[in-house]
Order: sequence, then C-alpha cells, then structure tokens
Amino acid sequence: MSNLTFTMIKPDAVRNGHIGAILAKMNEAGFKIVAMKYTHLSPAKAGEFYEVHKERPFYGELVEFMSSGPIVAAVLQKENAVADFRTLIGATNPAEAAPGTIRALYATNVGENAVHGADSDENALREANFHFAGTEMFF
Ligand code: RTP
Ligand code: MG
Repeated sequence: MSNLTFTMIKPDAVRNGHIGAILAKMNEAGFKIVAMKYTHLSPAKAGEFYEVHKERPFYGELVEFMSSGPIVAAVLQKENAVADFRTLIGATNPAEAAPGTIRALYATNVGENAVHGADSDENALREANFHFAGTEMFF
C-alpha cells in the first residue's frame, strides 16, 4: 500500500479564506506535505483531471467550478494516506459529512465542497504526476 495521497483545496475554500485552517487540519492529522503549489486549472486542464466523471450529469458544472479560481494542489504523506485523508475530509455532501471533518467545517454544498481527496493509491499517483514534476516532490 502506498503512503501518499493527492489533494486540492478547491476554489470555494480559497475564496472563503480557509487555506490556512485547512492546511492546519492536515498537519494536525499527521500528514506531511511532500509537494504543494498555489495554481489555477484552465477549463481544459480541469476537464482532463476529472475525465473519469465525463459521463456524470455534474461534469460540466464541476469543470466550470474547478476552473473558477485558484486552488492549492498538494501531495501528502502518511501511513494509510488515501483512506485516512478521506476520513479527514468527510462525505462528498457536507450535509452528510461527520462533525469536525474538513467538509463539515468548510464546504459550501455538494458541488463546492472545499477539498479533493484521491480515492485510490493508483489515482493518487496519477494525480500527483498530473500536477507535479518529480523535482517538485520532497520525500
Ligand atoms: P473528490 O473527487 O473531489 O475528492 O470528491 P469525492 O470523491 O467525494 O466525490 P466524486 O464522486 O469523486 O465527485 C467529484 C466531485 O464532483 C462534484 N460533485 N457534484 N452536484 C453533484 O451532485 C455532485 N456530485 C459530485 C463534487 O465537487 C465532488 O467532490
Ligand atoms: Mg472523487
């Protein structure tokens, strides 16, 4: 099992001033930052990133939202990183997210839900390599 995951602080959380609080939550939960950048996804790049959701009804809305403003992209390291990070962020819909989770605290709604977390080791690596060159990751 890999010990890496990939995350983004989404445009809603950036606009709402939650970058610092969200990074603190990640640190408090024991995640080490391996790579990080403040950046912007063009609609084409956002579409490519979320290609797996192409057939879903919310795909267009998701691509528009994810390219609507800057994001923070990061690679995080911890034992059991993918699963533990999904627990830390909570359910996709903040109304269903457990109290104290990042989405319960900082998400706006099911679409604008503050953070992304990779859903498998394989996708974590794909997503890390999508955003970062090898020379930008520090283990
Ligand atoms: P993420 O990939 O961003 O970590 O979120 P997730 O695994 O919890 O949810 P996923 O099913 O992968 O959906 C990706 C993102 O699409 C938006 N979404 N909108 N309007 C809707 O019903 C809806 N459903 C999903 C959210 O931004 C979700 O995080
Ligand atoms: Mg997902």
